Amino acid sequence: AAKRRVREALGAQEVNRDIKVQGWVRSVRSQKEVLFLHINDGSSLESLQVVADPTLEHRDLTFGSAVEVQGKLVKSLHRMQNVELKAENIRVVGPCDTLMFPFKPRERQPLEYSRQFPHLRCRTNTLSSLLRVRSEATAAIHLFFKDNGYVHVHTPIITSNDCEGAGELFHVRTSNKVQEPGENSHFFNVPAFLTVSGQLHLEVMAGAFTQVFTFGPTFRAENSQSRRHLAEFYMVEAEMSFTESLQDIIQVMEDLFKTATSIVLSKCPQDVELFHKYVSPAQKGRLEQMLKNKFITISYTEAVEILKRAPQTFTFQPKWGSDLQTEHEKYLVKHCGEVPVFVVNYPYDLKPFYMRDNEDGPQRTVAAVDLLVPGIGELCGGSLREERPHFLQSRLARLGLADAYQWYLDLRQFGSAPHGGFGMGFERYLQCILGVDNIKDVIPFPRFPHSCLL
Ligand code: 4AD
Ligand code: MG
Repeated sequence: AAKRRVREALGAQEVNRDIKVQGWVRSVRSQKEVLFLHINDGSSLESLQVVADPTLEHRDLTFGSAVEVQGKLVKSLHRMQNVELKAENIRVVGPCDTLMFPFKPRERQPLEYSRQFPHLRCRTNTLSSLLRVRSEATAAIHLFFKDNGYVHVHTPIITSNDCEGAGELFHVRTSNKVQEPGENSHFFNVPAFLTVSGQLHLEVMAGAFTQVFTFGPTFRAENSQSRRHLAEFYMVEAEMSFTESLQDIIQVMEDLFKTATSIVLSKCPQDVELFHKYVSPAQKGRLEQMLKNKFITISYTEAVEILKRAPQTFTFQPKWGSDLQTEHEKYLVKHCGEVPVFVVNYPYDLKPFYMRDNEDGPQRTVAAVDLLVPGIGELCGGSLREERPHFLQSRLARLGLADAYQWYLDLRQFGSAPHGGFGMGFERYLQCILGVDNIKDVIPFPRFPHSCLL
């Protein structure tokens, strides 16, 4: 018998074939005349119905067990499915201790409950749908950039720079065994960290390939227990040369969001629907609005004015020169009709050294852009980069970073082109399209303060 994934079997055009399916039992229903099983192998949300003679029943054939079923794929009379597998042979490959197994058949547990079992929660419908969406979204993002002429770059995980200058770094150290006594205490001779962003390396590459992107893990030692922060998260970053206006970057961000999302919706509609139906019923309409409408652009200065006029009171009073808080970001999105909002031209002092001075006053604003989305707040951050050597030099000197970033200054001397780019938090993107409240539920193994399970 030919081995088939559940997804293939469910979509089979030709029936009355002898096939073999392997997977995990999602339900067992034993009647006098017939035994019903549902088998799931992670290839689709839908499980394959197996009908068997009750004599094939076995005490190990329980919810959660790993099985191999061989039989004939036939047209189903049931209106919920096209086909079913008439079992000739059922083999329990690995039994499951159902009393100890934290999940029960046909029970939808809250996401917080499943989170306690990072090693088992991928066996639930919700998490397996999530992880399929995550996989399709990864492919969709790669496809978007590939189709638009970007070169994919692997930027390093271990680095000696603190791109964002926020000091939220994880230090990389060796075990004592590697170090000889008297040796320099640094494996690399310099302090090394897990990367907070691949941007600076992408800027190097944009200086040769014009359009580049990276999509990898990034790390921030932020002491935040919020529903949108992780210590390890994935970031999609793009960098474009010969870009002189924030508008060009904004366009790429909007196109990426809309194109990748449309691809995901077409690739795994059932998985997305599970979230829109059971996890966050308001999200379907919201997402349709996001895809249909042109995103809005306002300046930081306008944003502060809007916040000051708001009828509600905030925990943090909005003030020109202060960072926008999550509560402010959510209000701005609501104010704009639940459509994603680009906020541009932030105060100079709020942003990292690499952002381009707008010269609208003495170090007043930089060409920065954040994309704020419904329910989440900040999804993307980007900017034009300071490509003028004297501006960059004096800013780095003031920060005491001129020596460390000599190579970065170098780039401005050998065929420097105006350039810019952005980073999109991949987990926040998934939260946004699916309506998942807590970021810990959109990554298989979340890392956050006081928690590094498995
Ligand atoms: O705004 P950020 O800090 O921007 C950068 O790192 C730039 N160097 C990117 C670039 O221009 N190439 O981070 C970008 C995005 C944020 O908008 C947010 O979505 C996400 O990364 N992000 C986090 N996601 C989860 N957990 C955290 N702790 C995050 N910190 C940032
Ligand atoms: Mg940011």
